[in-house]
Amino acid sequence: MTEAEPPAIDVRSLSKRYGNHEHGVLALDRVTLSIPKGCVFGLLGPNGAGKTTLIKVLTGISDITSGDASVAGFDVRRESMKVRARIGWVAAEVILDDDFSAWENLWLQARLQDLTGWEERADHLLEYFSLKDRKDDKVSHFSTGMRKKLEIALALLHQPTVIFMDEPTIGLDVGTRRMLWDIVTGVRKEFGVTVLLTTHYIEEADALCDRLAIIDQGRIIAEGTPSELKARVHADLVQIETAHDLDTQRISALPGVQEVRAQGNDWMIRVASSEDFLPRLLATVPAEDVRRISVEKPSLETVFLDLTGRRIGQEEPMRDIRKFYMQMRRARS
Ligand SMILES: Nc1ncnc2c1ncn2[C@@H]1O[C@H](COP(=O)(O)OP(=O)(O)O)[C@@H](O)[C@H]1O
Ligand SMILES: [Mg+2]
Repeated sequence: MTEAEPPAIDVRSLSKRYGNHEHGVLALDRVTLSIPKGCVFGLLGPNGAGKTTLIKVLTGISDITSGDASVAGFDVRRESMKVRARIGWVAAEVILDDDFSAWENLWLQARLQDLTGWEERADHLLEYFSLKDRKDDKVSHFSTGMRKKLEIALALLHQPTVIFMDEPTIGLDVGTRRMLWDIVTGVRKEFGVTVLLTTHYIEEADALCDRLAIIDQGRIIAEGTPSELKARVHADLVQIETAHDLDTQRISALPGVQEVRAQGNDWMIRVASSEDFLPRLLATVPAEDVRRISVEKPSLETVFLDLTGRRIGQEEPMRDIRKFYMQMRRARS
């Protein structure tokens, strides 16, 4: 990779609105991204953030409302056929034909892509993904991990230079997910492809991606390497749920407190050091008032929390706690 090389994916102030005029949904809002060649780039964001839309626009499935985008050096709008010839796509949905063998699925893909002389490449891919001895087995007999491997093999068959993976590990068990991480990094090395993947799993973005962009409500809110992003939050986040309102001014005045945000009885307090802060907090808040305290050290989750005041994952422990207490209260009364 040299400095002069153009990026694998270049996006300039790209917006996408579904539906027409002001009534539509603004799924992408002036997105600008430059993704270097040979990189595993992650797009991390909650459901509805616009991740799939960006992939659809870059692969030419969906049209652009405004702005520019190029993939593999070609303009997504003006040179869409050239773009299509150079990209592979691993969708979140199943694309394999269950009644076909692995080899027949590859054959079908070659037909769809109008490829000639694909057999050698297919052989190499089966070999690479350790599927060679199963090539004549029906895909319906494959494990989830084997199916994923075959899906990636299909996406690589026409020798693309850029691969898109939309939530590739959604619904996979932990073991298969980790296997897939190894595959993604391996594929990048072996086939020299650039990978753009989307995820709403923090751990995945952290473990797998060289660089990532955090996307929320159609906007890129941060971009960098996982460690650069984590270094932005020079603070621990203390979350506390109390039975009564806290005295914001008193909390804010405690040493080391950078910010206090409140939502009802849920408090998020940014502090320089949770180790120094917790004893001071507990000296201020009556113990019987405390329902829950948690501390988070800098992570991609706290980066998102810090930027948006919300969490990426659907799992929202604070809300669950509230439900739990409501049930308790009902049970008591
Ligand atoms: N075909 C569509 N028509 C109208 N709105 C859509 C369509 N597809 C997605 N959206 C909306 O665009 C926003 C972004 O969706 P999407 O790109 O699927 O997000 P993500 O993949 O991050 O979950 C959401 O508000 C979603 O409801
Ligand atoms: Mg999606």
